[in-house]
Amino acid sequence: IKDDFAGYSLDLFSYPEHYFEDLACVYIPHGVIMDSFCEKIVTLHKKVISGHDIVVLCVLKGGYKFCADLVEFIKVLSRSSDKSLLMRVNFIRLKSYCNDQSTEDIQIIGGDDLTVLTGKKLNSYLVEYIIEKSGYFQIAKHLRLKQSLPYMVRIPCLLVKRVPNEGGCRPDYVGFEIPNHFIVGYALDYNEHFRDLNHICVISEVGKEKYKV
Ligand code: HPA
Ligand code: MG
Repeated sequence: IKDDFAGYSLDLFSYPEHYFEDLACVYIPHGVIMDSFCEKIVTLHKKVISGHDIVVLCVLKGGYKFCADLVEFIKVLSRSSDKSLLMRVNFIRLKSYCNDQSTEDIQIIGGDDLTVLTGKKLNSYLVEYIIEKSGYFQIAKHLRLKQSLPYMVRIPCLLVKRVPNEGGCRPDYVGFEIPNHFIVGYALDYNEHFRDLNHICVISEVGKEKYKV
């Protein structure tokens, strides 16, 4: 998505009434998000090594929608592959944002105990929802090493933000590359609000004020 893209007019979409004044535009409609999966996920999933179970590691909270939809796609793809692969879903929780500003430290504030995965032969997907600085990617790499999985490890990421000094992060799958806007919806939040919005939207100044902490 180019820097000068102004988004779509809100009039063209339906969205919850309680957000009527809180959004500036629709940035990525829900249907477009769903369309973006198809071709790219097929390519990503081709790397799966037959005979080894799949583990999907979801980065919470913002990744839950992307992860759930991704799991649905993987289920369909697995059904049509030679061998049926068992899949498990694990979770990790990270936090780095207050209002629309990222704090310096990204914290792991919860999630599953991943040591159960150590040493297992697995096809793993580490599902990120947004990468905009190397911090997140460092965590991904750290987890990758910690799990020391000798088999397939892929990092699908819904959004990559073009930010200065992004540190050359490149996930294995990118849904959309976007300019440096603060966006909400499709499980991405502003102080825990807007997760109940299907489309990815840009928040308005009114919205920022209303839900400020
Ligand atoms: N929106 C919501 N959550 C986020 C964002 C964003 O733009 N960037 C990092 N976490
Ligand atoms: Mg958040």
